[in-house]
Amino acid sequence: MSLPKKILVAYFSHSGNTRLIGKAIAREIGADIEEIVPVTPYPLRGAWLYLHGGHQAKVGVAPPLQPALRDFVDYDLIIVGTPVWAGSMAPPVRSFFQLAPLEEKTAAYFSTYLMSEAQSLKDMVAAGNATSLGERGFKMTRQATNDSVNAARQWAKELLG
Ligand SMILES: Cc1cc2nc3c(=O)[nH]c(=O)nc-3n(C[C@H](O)[C@H](O)[C@H](O)COP(=O)(O)O)c2cc1C
Repeated sequence: MSLPKKILVAYFSHSGNTRLIGKAIAREIGADIEEIVPVTPYPLRGAWLYLHGGHQAKVGVAPPLQPALRDFVDYDLIIVGTPVWAGSMAPPVRSFFQLAPLEEKTAAYFSTYLMSEAQSLKDMVAAGNATSLGERGFKMTRQATNDSVNAARQWAKELLG
């Protein structure tokens, strides 16, 4: 019998959607959680959030993060989640990939979005540079949220095979 895998779900969430999915995944498979938190918070809402955050995402800015609570070395599988910002990953997730070398690890990636996952998953696979078990986008409009939470739980179980 093989030992159970140690799994970490690491995500950035600005308005709670990615946190909701990340926690549902973690609960389903008994994973630990690491919330990725930028040193400088983004504005809560409004045009500047979209202009500033969207621009950072587009040009690939990687802002400084608060110190991580978990030691990534301890985990066999790291599941990384991001909201889609300007078609890609949110900037703090880009920073996470620079700090947490996943080359030797197994990873999986998810994003949450309103309209389209766009390039977010492809960009995370490239930045993570790990062996990917799978990638999945979750639509988080009001109508889609419940189905997405259920789909995330199912996806998490499938990841463990
Ligand atoms: C700066 C910014 C840019 C965004 N860009 C996109 C986008 O390009 N495509 C999309 O479908 N949703 C976009 N969204 C919506 C978020 O991806 C969506 O609401 C996501 O679920 C938010 O996750 P969170 O609540 O964990 O922050 C954007 C939101 C913000 C704040």
